[in-house]
Amino acid sequence: MAAGALLIAVVAAVLVHMGSFDVAADKPHSQPVFWLMDTVRERSVAIRAAGITVPGDLTDAKRVASGAAQYDEMCSLCHLAPGMKRTEISRGLYPRAPELRRKSDLTPAEQFWVVKHGLKMTGMPAWGVTHDDELLWDVVAFLRKLPDLTADQYQTLVKSAPKSHDEMMHEMKMDDGQDHDDQP
Ligand code: HEC
Repeated sequence: MAAGALLIAVVAAVLVHMGSFDVAADKPHSQPVFWLMDTVRERSVAIRAAGITVPGDLTDAKRVASGAAQYDEMCSLCHLAPGMKRTEISRGLYPRAPELRRKSDLTPAEQFWVVKHGLKMTGMPAWGVTHDDELLWDVVAFLRKLPDLTADQYQTLVKSAPKSHDEMMHEMKMDDGQDHDDQP
């Protein structure tokens, strides 16, 4: 047993040292590696999302509109949106960012977990580092609506979003005509 385990460890170390695993993002995983990564992600997310309490007002129109604006700004670059052509970043990413306007198997709690914590080694960022839970639930509320939207409905919804506090502060600063530190 011990000798077998040692042999496997040595072979693995040699393979790693020889650079046998191709990390290039323009070469897809082999079937077994793909299956392993997919299963690891699915189980990891399912287990970690199991204890999350989903807010009761996910269909609230204000939440959905706020989420639409966040999505357009932060997510569409990789995950695209109704009526949007593939972006350069979406074409080069591996694993690909799924088009979230297609129906997802994930529950709202699982979507929330992924959006908050991100996914290692995929390019999917952890938005919880920079955004609070309430705002991320707005995004999830929007994700639930996204598969039903036409390109026009998407645009209307994004524009209908209430401005965030930060955006308003930013615009006030731009408008006041005074000198700022960042200007010569
Ligand atoms: C830099 C590119 C990028 C950005 C920006 C990005 N994502 Fe992702 N996202 C990914 C990739 C790549 C995956 C797929 C990872 C995989 O297949 O394991 C992913 C996966 C996901 C998933 C899991 C989908 C599924 O069905 O398994 C969700 C949900 C998600 N992203 C939501 C979002 C939201 C919401 C935003 C914006 C707040 C966002 N992402 C921004 C790249 C991105």
